[in-house]
Amino acid sequence: MKVLLISAELAPYAKAGGLADVAGSLPKALKALGVDVRVMIPAYPMVLEMLGSDTVRSQASIPSASTGQSPARILSSVIPASPGHDDAIPLYLVEDATGAKGRKPWFSSATDSAHIYALEPEPYAFFCRAALAWLTEYSPGWTPDIVHCNDWHTGLIPLLLQQRSTEVPTWCKPASLFTIHNLAYQGDFPADKFACTGLSQDYYGIDGVEFYGRWTFMKAALNFSDHVNTVSPGYCKEILTPEYGCGLDGLLRKLMSEGKLSGILNGIDTDIFNPEMDKLLVAPYSARLPGGKLVCREALQRELCLQISSDRPIIGMVTRFAEQKGFDLVEAEAERILEMPVQLALLGQGETRYEQFLLSLQARYPSRVSVTIGYDAALAQRIYAGADLFLMPSRFEPCGLGQMIAMRYGTLPIVRATGGLADTVVDFSYSDGTGCGFVFDEYSGEALTHCIERAVEQMQSPANRTTLSCRAMEQDFSWKRSARDYIALYTYLESVRQ
Ligand code: GLC
Repeated sequence: MKVLLISAELAPYAKAGGLADVAGSLPKALKALGVDVRVMIPAYPMVLEMLGSDTVRSQASIPSASTGQSPARILSSVIPASPGHDDAIPLYLVEDATGAKGRKPWFSSATDSAHIYALEPEPYAFFCRAALAWLTEYSPGWTPDIVHCNDWHTGLIPLLLQQRSTEVPTWCKPASLFTIHNLAYQGDFPADKFACTGLSQDYYGIDGVEFYGRWTFMKAALNFSDHVNTVSPGYCKEILTPEYGCGLDGLLRKLMSEGKLSGILNGIDTDIFNPEMDKLLVAPYSARLPGGKLVCREALQRELCLQISSDRPIIGMVTRFAEQKGFDLVEAEAERILEMPVQLALLGQGETRYEQFLLSLQARYPSRVSVTIGYDAALAQRIYAGADLFLMPSRFEPCGLGQMIAMRYGTLPIVRATGGLADTVVDFSYSDGTGCGFVFDEYSGEALTHCIERAVEQMQSPANRTTLSCRAMEQDFSWKRSARDYIALYTYLESVRQ
């Protein structure tokens, strides 16, 4: 089976969020199960730099007539194999080869991960059309059976595939799968920007891309993909309701009734996230030999200039500072949370308002609160390892990877019961002796604080802390199961392909 996975992010090269991790780790898991999988992303300068110019070859030139904008170059390279594995993956990069005066080539300003998204439709319309042209005319003898698109940046591809198949009925169209990693980001733009898609005005209707007087990439994906999935079964159910459906719940209910919508839980890369082998940690540990976790804990306190203390649980957060992630609750409850004997270790970036609030909290409680603004994969790993608890009070969470990574590092998640968080975290029950996390239902400050209190109470006894931590490390969140679910879905889509 041949699969082309297309995404605007790819860890570790270009990462704004969890999409990058999935694009980086799912292909490796598919490859291990025998799938001929390849990946396509935009040719961001920082990716080319990280890959090294000697690994990048020009593979095809696509004239501007095909992209409707400027000529494209498809570069080919390879995502190197992970240590000890034979899982190198061919990588295609779409470059804007424009010589036009007056504008820089699309994607050329993405010199670091914080700048990979241009909030304009043109670069991604170009990306989608170049991808289609490559698939249909310029790829050197490799045609995928399945085109697996991810999030709105790739949303026009299913439509373009369908359009091409209508125009050329003899063409054997690859099946299209579109994965929603976050329905809240739809790529929606005003009507006067529609021309950049190069699509006929016929598509500007309710069954096409139109959405309340504007148009979105997401609607193109939902209306024209052979199948749509979300990144957890829980989120898949939630988006059928007006509360979580972002205005698309009606269309999503229709897809569900037609059997064209499902949920597959993400996994995590258990080679990268492995406390037993992690070179970024000062001491390795595992469920069998958990002692190193305390060493990592103290090292984290030192690194972040937190007071060295063994009895104040450290609550970690590695996230975007945004309302989706529950920061309105964190802001409202911060003082009450700090009345408990806890320390906070936060890493991320996001809305200025929350960044400022968190920095002011750090200024007021310097020995108990540490806030690092930015992306730092290495520090993230040390927080996952050194913290006792990991907070994700999300308003909604399509899947969430942080809670799974935290458990892998023996750190107990405190989560709101939504989407993938509800699917992966089992609430601790003293009487049943089950669960290794703390879950609350209602999106309220009171429910959050009460849940943290419950967690902190369980952390008071060191023996209890270790039991729960080891139980968390024993959970299996590897991609194995989910990669099989994707293969089953690909196989089905291939079998019903027209
Ligand atoms: C998005 C979602 C997150 C999910 C990730 C990967 O970032 O917000 O919940 O885990 O995509 O699918």
